[in-house]
Amino acid sequence: CGIVGYIGKRDVAPLLLEGLQRLEYRGYDSAGIALHTSGKAGGLKSAKAKGRVRDLEARLPKRFAGTTGIAHTRWATHGAPNDVNAHPHLDAEEQVAVVHNGIIDNAADLRAKLTAEGVAFLSDTDTEVLAHLIGRSQAPTLEEKVREALRLVEGTYGIAVLHADFPDRIVVARNGSPVVLGIGEKEMFVSSDVAALVSHTRQVVTLDDGEMATLKADDYRTYTTEGSTTSAQPTTVEWEAESYDMGGHDTYMHKEITEQVDSVDRVLRGRIDDRFSTVHLGGLNLDAREARAVRRVKILGCGTSYHAGLIGAQMIEELARIPADAEPASEFRYRNPVVDPHTLYIAVSQSGETYDALAAVQELKRKGARVLGVVNVVGSAIARETDGGVYVHAGPEVCVVSTKCFTNTVVAFALLALHLGRIRDLSVADGKRIIAGLRKLPEQIAEILRDEEHIAKLAAEYANAKSMMFIGRVRGYPAALEASLKLKEISYIHAEAYPASELKHGPLALIEPAMPTVAIVPDDDLLEKNRAALEEIKARSGRILAVAHREQEKADHTIVVPKNEDELDPILMGIPLQLLAYHTALALGRDIDKPRNLAKSVTVE
Ligand code: G6P
Repeated sequence: CGIVGYIGKRDVAPLLLEGLQRLEYRGYDSAGIALHTSGKAGGLKSAKAKGRVRDLEARLPKRFAGTTGIAHTRWATHGAPNDVNAHPHLDAEEQVAVVHNGIIDNAADLRAKLTAEGVAFLSDTDTEVLAHLIGRSQAPTLEEKVREALRLVEGTYGIAVLHADFPDRIVVARNGSPVVLGIGEKEMFVSSDVAALVSHTRQVVTLDDGEMATLKADDYRTYTTEGSTTSAQPTTVEWEAESYDMGGHDTYMHKEITEQVDSVDRVLRGRIDDRFSTVHLGGLNLDAREARAVRRVKILGCGTSYHAGLIGAQMIEELARIPADAEPASEFRYRNPVVDPHTLYIAVSQSGETYDALAAVQELKRKGARVLGVVNVVGSAIARETDGGVYVHAGPEVCVVSTKCFTNTVVAFALLALHLGRIRDLSVADGKRIIAGLRKLPEQIAEILRDEEHIAKLAAEYANAKSMMFIGRVRGYPAALEASLKLKEISYIHAEAYPASELKHGPLALIEPAMPTVAIVPDDDLLEKNRAALEEIKARSGRILAVAHREQEKADHTIVVPKNEDELDPILMGIPLQLLAYHTALALGRDIDKPRNLAKSVTVE
């Protein structure tokens, strides 16, 4: 979901619509706006609609002018996506308008109490509870009304509130769901994401959990939910407004895939130390003595970030010889894990906001663990809650499914593995070898991208499959998992990923001409084993598309990718398969940047 708000002199509705469009990638089943009308009658007005921001635009009433307003784009958690459940939510007197990200855990109880007191609810949402609580508060100021309401709710929120009696301000609050203030010249912005701010101002203030703010046209003030003033200082956002534009591509996904030549260069930049055949990771906050004391590494993430973590764990084992594994963050935190002081925990997240990953970090910290972050968004919640880490510097990623950020995260893990290896047991020669391999990556990615036309043709051949199998071994297996996820997410073709070695233990039963297999076949010590798997599939008349370092005889088609060092091959193997998923989805006419039922960041459980 996304929040955006503005107070100043400009006509607010177009500004908010533009902001919502920038946030649509985060969730988009409905949207809405509330504003203080500037006409004689004054008062609050709102409009909302199921669907995309353009549906809302079509729905705006004729007289809908003002210079102060809030807006929301929603991805349903409580209640179906429809007009009434869209935000903003108003109180019974239509004096209060609230937009909210997060979940109010005790909404059912509060709703029952309010209903017993005679409040009629219009929607099924947890947010409406907040609007009524604020509306019914007798406190003299809007800040106190909001504070009073928040005292009664349990759960997570990022909220922005308007009140008809206080047209000179917007009050916002944060607990577990991001709120960023944008500081302008005689105008102020608020959003859940800098994406909606950067075209207006690069000066931002990120609220902490438990913090609130009052925005007026020429002033802002931050304070805690208990009321004591805080001194949040503005910082400058590095990302350019242009990096949120489509830049001549038809989709963000295509833009982001092709950006990988530059984005991989960025994650490497300034970090390689040729003198000692190692890398410098300035934000790691783990000195050599501490790094040598690490006995295990546990990596946690969700979705694509989890898959990047699986590859990262292998790299750490191979290069640093520390036992390492990755696990979905949500699973980890619900199985009451043993938190061990000699284990280094690493949370992986593009957005730095994913609730399951953040909650895992918080649980680990509570139990005294050392947690690092591998994160893309600077200053995000996970970046702030961890003890240190590595920023992956992929730049903003807008398409719901992750491509360039996945690749950069894996490269960041290669850097971390090299760093840990060199202060433990990795030789100078191996250090040099890996560094040379890392340096080759951008040019090799460019080479893969030049093969796009060929990959698009292959995608057309396989696009009619109902189901596809992805296989790989050891280094190739997480790459197969990620490739199958990408295909599912954007083409809606069912896909399975298996270690090639497991085929004969079950999934081989699925193989027939109608179920093609994508096989990852690197030229490493498992080449012959992988070829044997191809034979098994061919013997059952299965079609095979291989991703390999040279043509594979047993395969019907091969995408040849350039060879790097064995340990770094998984970085490159994934890239043609991003293009394969992309062109398959394109051939099927899917909404590539906004696949059904998915959102870019899942900030709820
Ligand atoms: C959502 C997205 C996925 C993403 C996952 C983790 O489910 O749809 O594409 O991989 O969240 O996101 P994160 O920001 O933590 O990497």
